[in-house]
Amino acid sequence: MPSVMVIGASRGIGLELARQYADAGWRVHATTRSLARPGKLGDLAGEVSLYSLDVCSDADIAALAEALAGMPIDVLIHSAGVIGSRGAGDEETRTQTFRINTEAPILTATALLENVAASDQKKIALISSVQGSGRPRVGSEYLYGDSKGLLNAKFRELEPQWRARGITSVALHPGYVRTDMTGMMASISPKKSVRGIRAVMDDLRLEDGGRFVDYKGKTVSW
Ligand SMILES: NC(=O)c1ccc[n+]([C@@H]2O[C@H](COP(=O)([O-])OP(=O)(O)OC[C@H]3O[C@@H](n4cnc5c(N)ncnc54)[C@H](OP(=O)(O)O)[C@@H]3O)[C@@H](O)[C@H]2O)c1
Repeated sequence: MPSVMVIGASRGIGLELARQYADAGWRVHATTRSLARPGKLGDLAGEVSLYSLDVCSDADIAALAEALAGMPIDVLIHSAGVIGSRGAGDEETRTQTFRINTEAPILTATALLENVAASDQKKIALISSVQGSGRPRVGSEYLYGDSKGLLNAKFRELEPQWRARGITSVALHPGYVRTDMTGMMASISPKKSVRGIRAVMDDLRLEDGGRFVDYKGKTVSW
């Protein structure tokens, strides 16, 4: 049975990823900040294991890696993210947004790299955004876009090391999806986005490593 780890599965795209992979018969590992009251995530049927994780906590990331030590993870998807600010944001918002959107995907993927390397499929997707294209920009006043652009830059720096371990990893734009983040105003449902993301992950080959793709598999410009 293949396995997937979804980072940030309490709501939105992450919750739908956990649901669809579980329905498809995968073993699902999923993280939430509210383990005591997991809500809809706790209601999912199938082989679903939940873990507590605030991606701002180094201790939580270390505890997650310890709990999963020796367990292969075929597909790791880091979905957790925040909008932060559509403007420049105050200092606290900037610090938190860069931690969650930029540093955390790299930190969690690095912490779980051995698990992915030990699996059959060896695939990672860091959920980024088309809003990060052409960013970060000097003097920019768009925190969210800059945080995703900087994630892309860090991903491109690290990806060759992951590829050397036989891991295929991509930065992935999920589409403009109706979730809390977009105030439900967006163009596609989480169901459609996640059906696409799963197909993209299924089709990934080693030569796709290092690409920035959307939920349809189309290339997004850096
Ligand atoms: N929706 C879109 O149109 C769209 C477009 C492009 C990219 N994206 C990206 O897609 C990803 C998922 O977005 P979404 O639309 O599903 O957003 P969402 O519905 O707002 O869900 C955000 C998820 O991230 C988790 N999260 C936030 N801060 C966290 C933290 N410190 N530690 C652990 N988990 C944390 C939330 O957990 P809690 O429930 O605990 O807050 C929640 O599960 C994000 O990276 C987002 O930037 C979304």
